[in-house]
Amino acid sequence: MLCDSAKVKGSRVTAWWAVPWARPLLVDNVVAMRIGVVGLGGIARAHLAGWRAIDSAEPLEFHGHDVSSEAATPEGVTRHDDLAELLGIVDLVDICTPTFSHVELIKAAADAGKPVLCEKPLALTVAEAVEAARHCAAAGVSLQVGQVVRYFPAYVAAHRAFATGAYGEPAVLRFRRAGGMPRQPWFADEERSGGIALDLMIHDIDQARWFAGDVVRVHAHLKGLDGPGLRPHALAILTHASGAISHITSSWALQSGFGTAFEIACTQGILEHDTRDVAPIRFDRSDVALPPAPAAPGQSPFAEELAELAGAALEGRPARVGVGDAIAALSVALAVRESARTGRAVVPEAVPDDLRSPTVSWDDLAGVR
Ligand SMILES: NC(=O)c1ccc[n+]([C@@H]2O[C@H](COP(=O)([O-])OP(=O)(O)OC[C@H]3O[C@@H](n4cnc5c(N)ncnc54)[C@H](O)[C@@H]3O)[C@@H](O)[C@H]2O)c1
Repeated sequence: MLCDSAKVKGSRVTAWWAVPWARPLLVDNVVAMRIGVVGLGGIARAHLAGWRAIDSAEPLEFHGHDVSSEAATPEGVTRHDDLAELLGIVDLVDICTPTFSHVELIKAAADAGKPVLCEKPLALTVAEAVEAARHCAAAGVSLQVGQVVRYFPAYVAAHRAFATGAYGEPAVLRFRRAGGMPRQPWFADEERSGGIALDLMIHDIDQARWFAGDVVRVHAHLKGLDGPGLRPHALAILTHASGAISHITSSWALQSGFGTAFEIACTQGILEHDTRDVAPIRFDRSDVALPPAPAAPGQSPFAEELAELAGAALEGRPARVGVGDAIAALSVALAVRESARTGRAVVPEAVPDDLRSPTVSWDDLAGVR
């Protein structure tokens, strides 16, 4: 169950993504790492709590950079006002800045030869996202994108159940995500955040793709975008190449709390989750044994995400989400905006073949850490 405020290893974090995860995540591949967190705002706090929940063999060392002197330096972080100085000394760069700055910072980290983890959405256009991916490839550094919903327990549980094959093929998928309008002004500026489709709905677009594969057509509506202070809602219908249909609603109008829900109707059963329920997920098929979970319940999704992506970035280990997935989700989110603007169905721009992410199974992930 998500909650508004939670204690994460002693530090108070207030945000929808802050949850009371009690147990540390044990990893053996993350040792003595110097992590450079760029952007010390809201999501950086969740990342730092996630990094700290990783029970690594050696303590992690945190370095931080922010362009604003108003951004407080989190405890335990050594601040560098000069980005180049930070890039010179860290092993891994964790980009937690507003979306409009992602590509420039990814390229700067790559030029310094440092592997990069970047928050979603990767960029504001497919062309820029492709440019960032190619820039990192040319520099020989790894680029990973944090699409953290792939690490939230109910979604992980549903995917593990789905991966058994017992539920058959996905047919009609529904996703819901609603929270308050973020307070930072740049979120309300579509030119800088991408708006609700790129910032919020992208989580469920990624889920829809993870369950049902590539999206070939998008029809969408957006409301509440035409005045200051208005709280947008979005509705999208995605048609997958398989013929499955996804129905996604996203809203920034919820006045209190944050909630998510899904209903994955497959040919042999239905998987359901709703944060308003006491039970986080309902399995329709109690006869089905699940594949191994990469993390035990109670672990922080951010810790799990960061440990897995750090392993991928530093050692080439498998991760459940790749840059191609991030570009594909962005492309569908941009199609949502275009469809809402034109009133027409839109075909999302395809991800270049060389950037498509490989399929990673739960067996591939077992023993990653
Ligand atoms: N995964 C999730 O669930 C989730 C949740 C919230 C935000 N996000 C994403 O995280 C990113 C940051 O969001 P936030 O809520 O932390 O924003 P924020 O505004 O709270 O914090 C961003 C910080 O970056 C700093 N900054 C801006 N430009 C910079 C630059 N060029 N170099 C260094 N610092 C810079 C700002 O001064 C600010 O302190 C966004 O892309 C957002 O979409 C993801």
